[in-house]
Amino acid sequence: MSRAERKIDHIRHALSHSKSERSYFDDIDIVHQSLTAQNWEDLQLKTNVGELNLSSPLFVNAMTGGGGKKTEEINQSLAEAAKRTGIGMAVGSQMSAIKNKEERSTYEVVRKANPDGVIFANVGSEATLDQAKEAVDMIEANALQIHLNTLQELIMPEGDRDFRMRLKHIEAIVQGLHVPVIIKEVGYGVSKETANQLYDLGVRHIDVGGSGGTNFSKVENLRRNDPMISFENWGIPTPVSIVEVSKQVPDVHVIASGGIRNGLDGVKSLLLGADAFGMAGSLLKVMIEEGQEALVSKIEHIHREIKMAMMLLDIDHVKDFNGKPHVIRGDMKNWIDQR
Ligand code: FNR
Repeated sequence: MSRAERKIDHIRHALSHSKSERSYFDDIDIVHQSLTAQNWEDLQLKTNVGELNLSSPLFVNAMTGGGGKKTEEINQSLAEAAKRTGIGMAVGSQMSAIKNKEERSTYEVVRKANPDGVIFANVGSEATLDQAKEAVDMIEANALQIHLNTLQELIMPEGDRDFRMRLKHIEAIVQGLHVPVIIKEVGYGVSKETANQLYDLGVRHIDVGGSGGTNFSKVENLRRNDPMISFENWGIPTPVSIVEVSKQVPDVHVIASGGIRNGLDGVKSLLLGADAFGMAGSLLKVMIEEGQEALVSKIEHIHREIKMAMMLLDIDHVKDFNGKPHVIRGDMKNWIDQR
C-alpha cells in the first residue's frame, strides 16, 4: 500500500469506526429562559480566541494531510466550504510535507481556495521551531496547532516512542513564533495538570480535543494484528476537559473539540468556558458521502442552532454564553466532583 493509499485508508477507518453510544454533552442541561428581547438579524456569530478574530465560533478541525490527489481534493473542498460559510479551518499534520516538498500542494490548496480566511497550520510536538515556521509560512497560517497524540502513536506499530524533546520544542515554538500557538489533543482530552504544565511553558491556547467523537485508539486498532482493545475507552470526555482547563487555568483560551455533534453541543462548550469549537470527523463524513453543498448546509444549520440558543438565552454575542445557567448531572458531575 502506498503512503497516499494508507492516508485514504486512515480516513475510511476514521469515518467508519463505531462512535461511543453516549455523549457527556447529554449530561448538561441548559436552563431555558422565557423573556428574550433580541432580534434575530442582530445576533452576532463573530468572536475571538485571544488575538484571533473569527467570524464564527465553529471551525473545521485538523484532518487530511499527506500526499496524493485524493487528499488534495478533499482539502480543497473543505477549504471552499469554509470560505463559503466564513468559518476557520485547520489543516492536517504538515510534518510529511516539511520532510517531502512534493506533498506541499496538499496544504497550499487550502490557502489558495480561501485567500482571506482564518487557517491554522498543524505539526506534531516533535517539530522544531524552524519546522513550525515552515508549516506556518507554507499556508500563511493565522495560528499554529501543535498536536499531542501519545496514545495514538503508542497504538501505531510504527509510531513514535521517544518524547524526550517534546516540552523543549513546545517552549521554543511558543516563544519564537509570530502567530498564536494552540496545543491540541486528538481525542483524549487535556487534564488540568497538563494544562498547568503547558501554561508554565508559556502556552495560552489549548484545544482540549477530548473523547466522545473520533477515537484514534479504535482507528489505529483496525490496522493492528494485535489490537490494544483495553485502551479504546481511554481519555477525558470533551465537556469535562473544558471545565478542567477553563476553571483551573483561567488565563488560557480554551477551544473545544472531540465529539461535538451539533450546534447545541458547541453552545454547551461555550457555556462551560470555551471560546470556540472545532468539528472534524462528522464534517468530513458529510463532505465525502454527500458533497460540498451538503457540508455547507450542515454548517449553516449549526449556525442557526447557535443563533436559536442565543435568542433563547437573550444574548447577542457568543461570548455571553459563558456561565449561562445550566445543570450538570450523571457521569459528568461525578468527574467534576472528584477533580
Ligand atoms: C484527525 N485529527 C487530526 N488532528 C491533528 O491535530 N492533526 C492531524 O493530522 C489529524 N488528522 C486527522 C485525520 C482524520 C481523518 C480525522 C477524522 C481526524 C484529529 C481531529 O483534529 C480532532 O481532534 C479529532 O478528530 C476529534 O474531533 P471529532 O472528529 O470528534 O470532531
